[in-house]
Amino acid sequence: MKILVINGPNLNMLGRRDTAIYGTDTLQDAERRIGERAEALGIDVEFFQSNHEGAIVDCIQTEAQDADGIVINAGALTHYGISLRDALADSRLPFIEVHLSNIHAREEFRHHSVFAALAVGQIAGLGWRGYLFALEFLVEQIKESRGS
Ligand code: DQA
Repeated sequence: MKILVINGPNLNMLGRRDTAIYGTDTLQDAERRIGERAEALGIDVEFFQSNHEGAIVDCIQTEAQDADGIVINAGALTHYGISLRDALADSRLPFIEVHLSNIHAREEFRHHSVFAALAVGQIAGLGWRGYLFALEFLVEQIKESRGS
């Protein structure tokens, strides 16, 4: 089983950007932990980060055929990234939306996600652990849906 773990704009700056909101861990720290959890679960993960919506669309179009699910933190694209939403829909893969911060407790413009209605679910406010919970849930759900 292979899960794509995708991070959008500015998430490459984790550890340096607004640490009161996003914490001091870097994206590499989060990816290392996700990789370790994936190994424990016996699955493969592929990481992708871009600051460009089109590059993320390209990644989903190219990689989705070999993948079983997606964990995505689309950053600000969450709130307006319609072409990314369409790429997620076209992939037909189950995906979980992750946010490090609790977007519902922040500015009004962060409350709406253009992906939420398509997602298996959304995890917000649990920091980097949100990626791990999303991965575990997705893997379990995919296994269950295959009767294994
Ligand atoms: C974020 C929340 C978004 O509103 C913001 O634009 C981000 C990060 C989060 O992880 O909390 O870049 O997705």
